Amino acid sequence: MARRKKIYEGKAKILYEGPEPGTIVQYFKDDTTAFNAQKKEVIEGKGVLNNRLSELFMTGLSQIGVPTHFIKSLNMREQLVRNCEIIPLEIIVRNFAAGTISARLGIDEGTQLPRPIVEYCYKDDSLGDPLVTEEHIAAFGWASQQEMDDILNLALRVNDFLSGMMLAVGIRLIDFKIEIGRVYDGDFMRLVVADEISPDSCRLWDIDTGQKLDKDVFRQNLGNLTDAYTEVASRLGLMPKNTKQNATTSE
Ligand code: C5P
Repeated sequence: MARRKKIYEGKAKILYEGPEPGTIVQYFKDDTTAFNAQKKEVIEGKGVLNNRLSELFMTGLSQIGVPTHFIKSLNMREQLVRNCEIIPLEIIVRNFAAGTISARLGIDEGTQLPRPIVEYCYKDDSLGDPLVTEEHIAAFGWASQQEMDDILNLALRVNDFLSGMMLAVGIRLIDFKIEIGRVYDGDFMRLVVADEISPDSCRLWDIDTGQKLDKDVFRQNLGNLTDAYTEVASRLGLMPKNTKQNATTSE
């Protein structure tokens, strides 16, 4: 039987050719990496949780008018998405200091920032995804000025939406990363939120205890990663109570 064509394999996902032109199947792996893949582990069930959580965030964004690449969920690990041309930038939005901004600017982790801060990194693993300015982006033609205006607007709308959704379930959205893609409809091009939105790409802290419920659990060896992601999924209503303990075995 003919196997579908693999287009790309990344650190956490595999992309396959979709059933219709312009579509792609995005498969969520259990592979977990940190520090530009210097730390690696297979964490059973992580892909299932991220597939489900990313679906929830992407469909919620569509409902408030933020365009995304998401079309539909296919199964526990796969979703059908629009094929898009990924802009080679990681767009990071920060509400509280943590991670590289704390290290770079000497701000204590958890300090509330005066306003959401948007940063851009150039997507290149071999360079460690360096921080870049809008000047670099314009000079090297990675995105046009109009696209940068749209990207900033999208990033802040995603921030408002995700912050509110998390706040409602007692979680503080510290920061997150998104990727933006160009989708072509004939001669018309539009930007969409692409890739994934999951606890792999966000920092999520319990509001009361400060407990970390994101990939920092893996980065900093703070405990069981799927327990943390299951807690997020459960609070967001994705896990029937009696299956909460079975996230890793429910495939
Ligand atoms: O490491 P840093 O503090 O710059 O990360 C900011 C946010 O972006 C974190 O939520 C992190 O998980 C996410 N991120 C990501 N992929 C990267 C770099 C950062 O998802 N390559």
